[in-house]
Amino acid sequence: MLDAGCGTGNYAAELLQYGCGYVTLLDASPGMLEKAREKMAQQIQSGRVKEVIEAKLPAIPYPDQTFDAVMFNLVLVYIILSCVVMNFCNEYACSMLYTN
Ligand SMILES: C[S@@+](CC[C@H](N)C(=O)[O-])C[C@H]1O[C@@H](n2cnc3c(N)ncnc32)[C@H](O)[C@@H]1O
Repeated sequence: MLDAGCGTGNYAAELLQYGCGYVTLLDASPGMLEKAREKMAQQIQSGRVKEVIEAKLPAIPYPDQTFDAVMFNLVLVYIILSCVVMNFCNEYACSMLYTN
């Protein structure tokens, strides 16, 4: 399973405990990932955490069908908001260009 926007890995850790085979942790924040690495050191050592990767969603840097499931827990709101803000800024920048 891919835990996209994993934070410090709380949910991935629980899922492993409750029978999920393997997880990959992905987050945009190096600080969050560092905490996840510390918290899940044992599962990383055992190979049940496959990878801990810094990446910025919505792009997922893996080929299609790499994972059986992807979890976005408390993450999509940030992605949607940043898209809305970017679109707004693009619109604003365009109107600045034309009214200049
Ligand atoms: C509220 S926390 C949720 C963490 C975890 N999923 C949980 O439920 O405990 C939101 C997380 O999303 C990450 N995040 C926000 N925007 C992101 C993006 N575009 N790509 C990857 N991670 C992102 C933040 O770094 C943060 O760790």
